[in-house]
Amino acid sequence: MAIKLFLFLGYFALISCFKPPSTSDISETVHKLFETIRGMQATKTMLPDPPLEWAKFKGNYESDVKLYFHGNSTMSALRYMFKVYDNNMFATAWITSCLVEAYRYGNAPKPTEDQIIMSVDAIMDHRNKNLKYANSIMAFWPQILDEEFKVYQSTPVNLLAMFNLTQTTNWTVVYDLFDKIGLHDVTEIMKHLLATREGYQHVFKIPPDFDDTSVNLGLGSLLRDNVIHFPYASAAWEGQNKKAASEKKDVSLVTTWVQDLVDVKTQYFQGIDTPGNVNNVDITVCANALFGITNAILSGLVTSEVLYDPVLQQLYLNTSTMIEFQIQTNFSGRPDLALTYYPSVFEFYWFVARTYTQLERKARIGELPHEAMRTVMEGLGSALKGNMTQHVISQSKMEGNDMIYYDDFLGDGDIDNNKKHVEFGEDRLWTTSMAINALITTWTVYNDATQKLNWYDDTPTEVKTTVQKATTWLNTYILSGKYQPWNAFFSGSFKGFGTSWSSYPANRDEYFNGTKVPHDGKRHYGEIIRGMEGVMEEDWYQQQIKLDHAPVDFH
Ligand SMILES: *[C@@H]1O[C@H](CO)[C@@H](O)[C@H](O)[C@H]1NC(C)=O
Ligand SMILES: *[C@@H]1O[C@H](CO)[C@@H](O)[C@H](O)[C@H]1NC(C)=O
Ligand SMILES: *[C@@H]1O[C@H](CO)[C@@H](O)[C@H](O)[C@H]1NC(C)=O
Ligand SMILES: *[C@@H]1O[C@H](CO)[C@@H](O)[C@H](O)[C@H]1NC(C)=O
Ligand SMILES: *[C@@H]1O[C@H](CO)[C@@H](O)[C@H](O)[C@H]1NC(C)=O
Ligand SMILES: *[C@@H]1O[C@H](CO)[C@@H](O)[C@H](O)[C@H]1NC(C)=O
Ligand SMILES: *[C@@H]1O[C@H](CO)[C@@H](O)[C@H](O)[C@H]1NC(C)=O
Repeated sequence: MAIKLFLFLGYFALISCFKPPSTSDISETVHKLFETIRGMQATKTMLPDPPLEWAKFKGNYESDVKLYFHGNSTMSALRYMFKVYDNNMFATAWITSCLVEAYRYGNAPKPTEDQIIMSVDAIMDHRNKNLKYANSIMAFWPQILDEEFKVYQSTPVNLLAMFNLTQTTNWTVVYDLFDKIGLHDVTEIMKHLLATREGYQHVFKIPPDFDDTSVNLGLGSLLRDNVIHFPYASAAWEGQNKKAASEKKDVSLVTTWVQDLVDVKTQYFQGIDTPGNVNNVDITVCANALFGITNAILSGLVTSEVLYDPVLQQLYLNTSTMIEFQIQTNFSGRPDLALTYYPSVFEFYWFVARTYTQLERKARIGELPHEAMRTVMEGLGSALKGNMTQHVISQSKMEGNDMIYYDDFLGDGDIDNNKKHVEFGEDRLWTTSMAINALITTWTVYNDATQKLNWYDDTPTEVKTTVQKATTWLNTYILSGKYQPWNAFFSGSFKGFGTSWSSYPANRDEYFNGTKVPHDGKRHYGEIIRGMEGVMEEDWYQQQIKLDHAPVDFH
């Protein structure tokens, strides 16, 4: 069954600096969007009473966990019905960053300091509580002390409450009811879901990660950079984030989890569960980390001396090189692996462009504080202006002569009663926003003196017309109600059976004690590490894909 776990955020980052339709139209749209987003922030903490009321923590913006049901009309109905409000720091940090940027670079309304401080306070509750010293290592979900193990475990309250609910519900009664009203299909699907719920529950107790850590760092840098506009919010952030203060490797990349194998083997027995017991590299996490490091230095939150540390410098340079390579090679033809957590390619492009544009902006008004930053700026710039731009333009879809939109996959996987493919374009608003953001962010530079975004002189006409036509499309539809404001902002570690980590090639497959896991055709779980070490020959990899029937596609 094609079901995937995704987190949906109801927001758009719309930069409003382009002429047609008319500036006043766009400005009105932006004001309305601003109000909509403000209405989605919880202004007080609310206790859960599932499934009627979900817990909402003060300061958070709404984001929901949904399952990607798709197929026939029963499946699409389930897609609409099912959602669980989720309290995580990631959505809130991102939305806050977008609000500040939209105000600074896009003439959007100014968020109030209260609005930002409320979010900063919510985010700060996500600090790694298992470290006994002040730190800025962040976890996606709030952490609650587990009395048995005496460790803090990440706790998505609403998801857990929902799982509790499934345990206390008398399903016979529910199934009978559905069957009576002719929804036998739903009964079958629910039975299947309940049978697999352990798989989902498995991914809740995750360790802190570099993604949340970097996004928080990015937010702090942004506030510091705009301290004249948000003095109190900036002070609130800095007051809560104390600055934290090897061996050389061939390649060093930002990983998803803040954890090594020794940590995995220890924390496993303390109820902290790394999906698959192996760390991974996700290129969007990498893009966020580059942004966090770059802006922490450019804003003066940390000094450029951190880049004289050979370990950090290598991490910075190698991660950037890897991102360029992925853009230039179409993700090696494997976006399912490269974009492990964030399925949106355009969103990834935009995240990369955000780092590039900040470097350009600083380089134009003075020297970059470290040579490594110039290397990163030039490398990312050439990948973005070359393959990225080419790719975005090639994916555009025309509506009439003067509008362009972009689709990803949400709502485009259904069939009607005649088994004909239908397209609902449920992430069309979002994907179009992301495509425009990626192009604008790559091809414009913010002029600090005039406070405007300007196109570079060498911007191809095609880029400008694409942005113009896509802006027209977005301004026409964003508040029209015709399309869902949905997006698969990111997806869980466990996306359903069929893409489980144990189905992919691995050259290390062993118990924690080092003994090899027997190759007896069975799946082994538990105290097992299964992953890749080093670089294998292409032939070996292709052969393993065949042997394991490994998935090669994301959806
Ligand atoms: C709809 O799809 C689900 C999942 O594939 C299946 O269980 C169900 O029988 C289908 N219903 C109809 C009416 O085809
Ligand atoms: C879920 O149930 C367990 C055991 O009954 C209980 O300890 C826990 O507090 C419940 N969690 C939530 C979020 O309701
Ligand atoms: C669930 O409801 C059915 C029908 O009312 C009843 O026969 C059954 O005993 C109930 N099961 C539990 C575990 O309470
Ligand atoms: C990684 O960084 C190191 C140190 O900067 C450099 O020597 C090495 O060539 C880089 N590797 C790749 C693959 O870029
Ligand atoms: C990237 O751009 C280069 C130079 O234009 C081109 O040769 C290459 O095919 C492009 N790669 C992809 C994946 O489109
Ligand atoms: C990029 O890879 C995808 C497979 O993931 C393929 O469908 C697409 O055609 C490729 N695009 C280019 C330009 O090579
Ligand atoms: C390693 O662990 C596995 C699984 O717990 C066990 O079966 C095996 O005997 C252990 N090997 C050694 C050498 O301790």
